[in-house]
Amino acid sequence: MDATVPSVVPQPVATRLTRAAIFLVATLASGREAEAAVRKLSANLSGLLRAVGFRDLEGGLSCVMGIGSEAWDRLFGAPRPRDLHPFREIRGSHHAVSTPGDLLFHIRATRMDLCFELAAQIMKRLDGVVEVVDEVHGFTYFDDRDLIGFVDGTENPVDAAAVAATIIGTEDPDFAGGSYVIVQKYLHDLPAWNRVPVAEQERIIGREKLSDIELDDVAKPSYAHNVLTSIEENGVPLEILRDNMPFGDVGKGEFGTYFIGYARSPHRIERMLENMFIGLPPGNYDRLLDFSRAVTGTLFFVPPASFLDAVTPDAVPAAATLPATEPPPSQPGGSLGIGSLRKEASHE
Ligand code: HEM
Repeated sequence: MDATVPSVVPQPVATRLTRAAIFLVATLASGREAEAAVRKLSANLSGLLRAVGFRDLEGGLSCVMGIGSEAWDRLFGAPRPRDLHPFREIRGSHHAVSTPGDLLFHIRATRMDLCFELAAQIMKRLDGVVEVVDEVHGFTYFDDRDLIGFVDGTENPVDAAAVAATIIGTEDPDFAGGSYVIVQKYLHDLPAWNRVPVAEQERIIGREKLSDIELDDVAKPSYAHNVLTSIEENGVPLEILRDNMPFGDVGKGEFGTYFIGYARSPHRIERMLENMFIGLPPGNYDRLLDFSRAVTGTLFFVPPASFLDAVTPDAVPAAATLPATEPPPSQPGGSLGIGSLRKEASHE
């Protein structure tokens, strides 16, 4: 390969599901100091990952960093990823809430200690400049089941199909190699769910509970979860990559599923959410939501790893002469000049 051609390296979005994960959602304090600290972390993240991950190479440690819509403007300015916007709440038969979040860290490994160590190292570098508004430690629960007892993740695309579903291509050339991610934390009413006969649970999900075999199309009601979340455009399925994880706190009676969905466009996930929460047609909503309440909802852009590596931590954006209390300049008029924030990418 020509060494002068810059290559874009995506973050490890399309990896296989792991045994453990930590999901950190944080909001960014006001002020230039906070922005500089996050930029510095962005540039150092791959080094941190290498250092912690090297302690157990079999542990498959990975970390995906996502940036929320407002944070993007503050940290990187123009150009903006084409489809980046705050998560839009949905009020239908059920309510998909929109909750704050400037940064997401999705940390995965085969061992929780690796995830924990990386999360701690990240937070050490963001101490005092972010507030963690949600932290979930996910675990694998028997046969990759969620806490409602169904195997979760079966129909995920893998390998090349996972990349095709999640990684931006020519549709947004400035951000090729990036991705979008939506997270939602769901709490289940397990006593109520467990009172539902298994045959009806299977109709709600659209699969057999024990064997995980998909129900015949004729046996699936139109409100089945896998009917409402199977979408297409011009006859072509629009896929996303999910890495849902069970979590809980038995002392509080908290039993949850952390939903995380990656896609090359957030519209895919938003369409699925509309089908679930409003219904298709409206009113024909996802009955899983009668037993599962979304308590968070946030959308992030996932820049390529090579973009993060190339961030110049202490570059002062042109707009930095504004008082720290000044709101960030709006786009497109108030570019922070991405070029000034990024090192000239060096590539072998
Ligand atoms: C309480 C939260 C959720 C639970 C417990 C849950 C559980 C499941 C289960 C058990 C399956 C079947 C097995 C599989 O293919 O993975 C499934 C499939 C699926 N879910 Fe969810 N899910 C949740 C939320 C969501 C949300 C919010 C979305 C999208 C916005 C979504 C999108 C999908 C998709 C695309 C499939 C595959 C459908 C197919 O092609 O057959 N899920 N989910």
